[in-house]
Amino acid sequence: MKIYKKFREENQVTLYNGDCIELLRKIPDEIVDMVITSPPYCMGKAYEDPHDDIETFKKQHKDIFQDIYRILKPGGSVCWQVGYHVSNKCVVPLDYVIYDIFTSESKNLNYPLILRNRIIWTFGHGLNSTNRFSGRHETILWFSKGKQGLFNLDNVRIPQKYPGKRSYKGPNKGELSGNPLGKNPSDVWEIPNVKAQHVEKTTHPCQFPVVIPQRLIKALAPADGLILDPFMGVGTTGVAALLEGKRFVGAELMEEYYDISVSRLKDTVKGSVKIRADKPVVEPDTNTAVAKLPEEFRKVRGKNSDEE
Ligand SMILES: C[S@@+](CC[C@H](N)C(=O)[O-])C[C@H]1O[C@@H](n2cnc3c(N)ncnc32)[C@H](O)[C@@H]1O
Repeated sequence: MKIYKKFREENQVTLYNGDCIELLRKIPDEIVDMVITSPPYCMGKAYEDPHDDIETFKKQHKDIFQDIYRILKPGGSVCWQVGYHVSNKCVVPLDYVIYDIFTSESKNLNYPLILRNRIIWTFGHGLNSTNRFSGRHETILWFSKGKQGLFNLDNVRIPQKYPGKRSYKGPNKGELSGNPLGKNPSDVWEIPNVKAQHVEKTTHPCQFPVVIPQRLIKALAPADGLILDPFMGVGTTGVAALLEGKRFVGAELMEEYYDISVSRLKDTVKGSVKIRADKPVVEPDTNTAVAKLPEEFRKVRGKNSDEE
């Protein structure tokens, strides 16, 4: 597979080393199925200007919004993963800022962005605070462009906590109460963040784990979808897109991270990329009768079903 530097719609992968604004302006209208990204939080990271502040964050988002909107197909999805900006001990939840900009900038357009989910991503490790509770979650805002967003729930179901549980009253009394394909993963995702011992760790200080964009792509992207990450870092969204058989276009300003994304995407194609697979949030205790997978469920696993 060839990795292209210049965008063309038919490319399987385009990786642009430069400012995402330059890339976005070269992408035609309404051809992207899904945007997944985690932008800089303006918190003085190695890849940021130390003078960047919350006003820089707002300006950057206002500057790119019209192009993000323009290139996204009606019905397509935007997934923006953010945490907090902190200055002078004041905490600003960046998803509030994003929600405000994206909804107000699109409200008079043909397909206003509609917030479909605010997903809490929670993880066990991070900095320990001494003057407030230690931060252990960030959020992902999922918007659809207009109302027609795709949602393939069956692709992302996770095991039921108690697959053998039966209704104990009502007309279905005695019947299995859960869906044999598993349950909805909910809007709280407990997924380890990429710290020192994580198999996906590179030199980038703020990677998200592959399983986050992978779960989003499984649920929200069409079969031959084109996925964009304008702030791709070390190409995590690209790895997820290729694992799911989609096309990918991404931009990264810093050459060091760009080079890592190129090698991670090549490793993905070779099948040697290191990832930590999605795991169920709760491992059922198989010694408990209700936790055992019932015979009826074994038969239907693998088949598609629309009901929840
Ligand atoms: C929070 S990190 C994204 C990390 C990514 N999700 C990953 O897993 O590797 C944000 C990235 O955006 C890059 N960046 C900042 N401004 C940019 C711009 N204008 N165009 C493209 N990339 C930019 C930074 O260098 C940084 O690597």
